[in-house]
Amino acid sequence: MAEYEAEPERLAVFVAEGPDAQLLGFLEVSLRPSANGCDGRPVGYLEGWFVIPSHRRSGVGRALVAAGEAWARGHGATWMASDAYRTNRASRAAHAHVGYEEWVELVHFRKRLGSSGRPRGRGTSPRRRAARSP
Ligand SMILES: CC(C)(COP(=O)(O)OP(=O)(O)OC[C@H]1O[C@@H](n2cnc3c(N)ncnc32)[C@H](O)[C@@H]1OP(=O)(O)O)[C@@H](O)C(=O)NCCC(=O)NCCS
Repeated sequence: MAEYEAEPERLAVFVAEGPDAQLLGFLEVSLRPSANGCDGRPVGYLEGWFVIPSHRRSGVGRALVAAGEAWARGHGATWMASDAYRTNRASRAAHAHVGYEEWVELVHFRKRLGSSGRPRGRGTSPRRRAARSP
């Protein structure tokens, strides 16, 4: 989230409220520079999508996604992307119902960095270049 604090215009949060202002759900949507299988730049990305259990299957999630897509379109995105755990069947079904095609499955790797890690290997020393915004 730190990168979004630096560029708050890249992240929007939509909330759904009941008649008594009860929070029913939320959607965090971001603008990413790219996403797997999507053309153009930026790409709208569903970062967090949640509806309270008592109000699921009644259209709240769909309305949140529609709001997020409209926001992303308004910021130049022509594609949306998202992700879910393979085991999250409800999320996968809901994504499919609101028009999201399952595109590719990824394996995530991780490595804890030590404090004195010097690059290993032969050849040139990589140099850092400034990143571009979306
Ligand atoms: C995913 C989630 C946000 C969907 O919210 P929701 O309010 O139930 O969604 P909606 O009622 O608007 O449903 C949207 C579509 O998905 C379908 N759908 C939703 N949940 C479904 C389920 N468990 N199984 C099958 N279809 C489902 C709905 O039928 C609807 O399609 P339709 O309009 O063609 O009938 C909600 O289930 C949730 O908060 N889950 C827990 C958190 C989570 O897993 N978030 C996603 C992280 S990747």
